[in-house]
Amino acid sequence: MVVKYTHDTVLLNEAVNALAIRPNGIYVDGTFGRGGHSAKIISQLDKDGRLLIIDQDPEAIAVAQDLYGNDERVKIWKGSFQAIPQALSEMELPEKVNGVLLDLGVSSPQLDDANRGFSFSKDGVLDMRMNPDEGRSAADWLKTATESEIADVLWQYGEEKQSRRIARAIVHDREIQPFKTTLQLAEMISRVIKRSGKKQQQKHPATRSFQAIRIHINQELDTLIQCLETTTEYLSIGARLVVISFHSLEDRIVKHFMRDNSRPPHLPKGLPIMSNNLKKPPFRLIGKAIKASDAEVQRNPRSRSAVMRIAERQA
Ligand SMILES: C[S@@+](CC[C@H](N)C(=O)[O-])C[C@H]1O[C@@H](n2cnc3c(N)ncnc32)[C@H](O)[C@@H]1O
Repeated sequence: MVVKYTHDTVLLNEAVNALAIRPNGIYVDGTFGRGGHSAKIISQLDKDGRLLIIDQDPEAIAVAQDLYGNDERVKIWKGSFQAIPQALSEMELPEKVNGVLLDLGVSSPQLDDANRGFSFSKDGVLDMRMNPDEGRSAADWLKTATESEIADVLWQYGEEKQSRRIARAIVHDREIQPFKTTLQLAEMISRVIKRSGKKQQQKHPATRSFQAIRIHINQELDTLIQCLETTTEYLSIGARLVVISFHSLEDRIVKHFMRDNSRPPHLPKGLPIMSNNLKKPPFRLIGKAIKASDAEVQRNPRSRSAVMRIAERQA
């Protein structure tokens, strides 16, 4: 297989160390990408250890098949990490695992391949689906979404201050010609957006809108919430949950989930309950949020926004 696009794995050692791998344990890489984390996990497994590789992108899965199709310790499943219990069952793995890693967002190959439609700087079909076999493309959504739906998406997921102006222009322009390509949309946004100050001019004016539409098209935040809410079902006691986020909205979800599930229940004062009779929360936090080192950021600028959080399942 010809590898056209590569991905520079973020927080590689930090994330795999955080999983505290047992050589005969069962692990899930919910976001295989190009397999940087998976390779390091596999290198620490013995013949009884298992890794379930998941990605919703068929191209990522093809790479995984190519690399690990013949490795008996590895199972490969195409789909969303939201369905980890289903993947475990279909792959005939035990119901409980020793660790799950999620390295969220899009991979560099997805961004770099113009045909995937994620990039505002390369012309391609305006698709933006990580799994092109399911759901609606960005072009399809922009054809029918109402002006207020578009504005809400741009505002909520991109914190785009000019969301209403851009949404109005999209709805106006699509009557003349529907949005089919990335550059068509990016150029229109550049045209209508009001620029102020030097700082804003450094970023492409379509950055926030493209990010927002991508998050919406792939339902990234809802999927993450649903995944986190089921982790207690399949993480065995002592198992680690390791999540790397690249967006403040994602990180907020992870942070709140881990914090809320690692605190004892809040009871009104004066109840006749001894603290050792209280049920323990399902997780305990392991350390604080971890960011990429200066050296990593210099080597791989994409790691600048990465935030990794770790929690351990407890009895
Ligand atoms: C940042 S990349 C992961 C990179 C990987 N850790 C590596 O070292 O190459 C994110 C990957 O997760 C996948 N992905 C994102 N959301 C997903 C989801 N809900 N279910 C399954 N895969 C998902 C994307 O398709 C992409 O390949």
